Amino acid sequence: MTVLVLGSANLDLVYEVDRIPAPGETVLSRGFASFAGGKGNNQAVAAARAGAPTRFVCALGADASGDRLAAEARDAGIDLLDRRVDAPTGTAAIFVDRRGENSIVVDSGANALLTDLTAAEREAIGAADVLVLQLETPVPTVAAAVAAAKAAGTRVVLNAAPSGAVPLDLLDDVDVLVVNEHEAAELAGPGDAAAVLTARGCAVIVTLGAEGALVGVPGEEPVRVPSYTVDAVDTTGAGDTFVGAFAAALDGDPSGTGLEALVAATGFATAAAALAVQRKGAVPSIPTLEEVREFRDAR
Ligand code: RIB
Ligand code: NA
Repeated sequence: MTVLVLGSANLDLVYEVDRIPAPGETVLSRGFASFAGGKGNNQAVAAARAGAPTRFVCALGADASGDRLAAEARDAGIDLLDRRVDAPTGTAAIFVDRRGENSIVVDSGANALLTDLTAAEREAIGAADVLVLQLETPVPTVAAAVAAAKAAGTRVVLNAAPSGAVPLDLLDDVDVLVVNEHEAAELAGPGDAAAVLTARGCAVIVTLGAEGALVGVPGEEPVRVPSYTVDAVDTTGAGDTFVGAFAAALDGDPSGTGLEALVAATGFATAAAALAVQRKGAVPSIPTLEEVREFRDAR
């Protein structure tokens, strides 16, 4: 069983601020640090730390940031399938306020050049049990990866983040869609997003932050999975931790993508995300399997 994540890797440049500056305003930062990040990278680290054999397909620049991200991914136990391309490694400028909330600007850089899947990348997708995708890499690449997975019987988890244009027919070949409320509304339009999205035939997990998550499968009543009450320090990467931990839990469960398996995986992912919000940075905040188990046992 293997999880294969295809997606973005960024160097996160994180500024701690009292409040996010308004247009035209300059504020002084209380602290600065850089961390490994990027939605794809965070999700791959989360899957690996949750105990799944994990491979990660990404595009990095031939620069010091690319070297750092590659080294940290390998340290997390990831089998890295990286391309080095002729563009700077992606970066994210992140402002984190006193409540742990953030504002993020991403410069895709190398991630935008993750196009035209190679034979080796397609093969790796086919050999995996679960494919995990997000929307920080070009949509045609995401679509090609979904098609390669479908042809090989690999289960597909799509995290439609950040919200943006994703062709709805892509969902026809997705097994599980993971979205927050905002992304769900963007995809489904006004109304009962979970009902609209499951009508496409895929299972849908809508993450609700402190309210937990909603698990929906076609033809069944959605199930609410509760969250944990914790003090947030930095929510950056918590959603990615959820997705990666969720995929790892699914990878370890051969029963497929039925409601029961999804609710169990969502419970595990919710605990992993609750740990991630209590620590600074994206990759450094992602917990191990032991930490998640200990946290759940203590509740
Ligand atoms: O989801 C969090 C991630 O979004 C950050 O690590 C940043 O790199 C952006 O991609
Ligand atoms: Na965090």
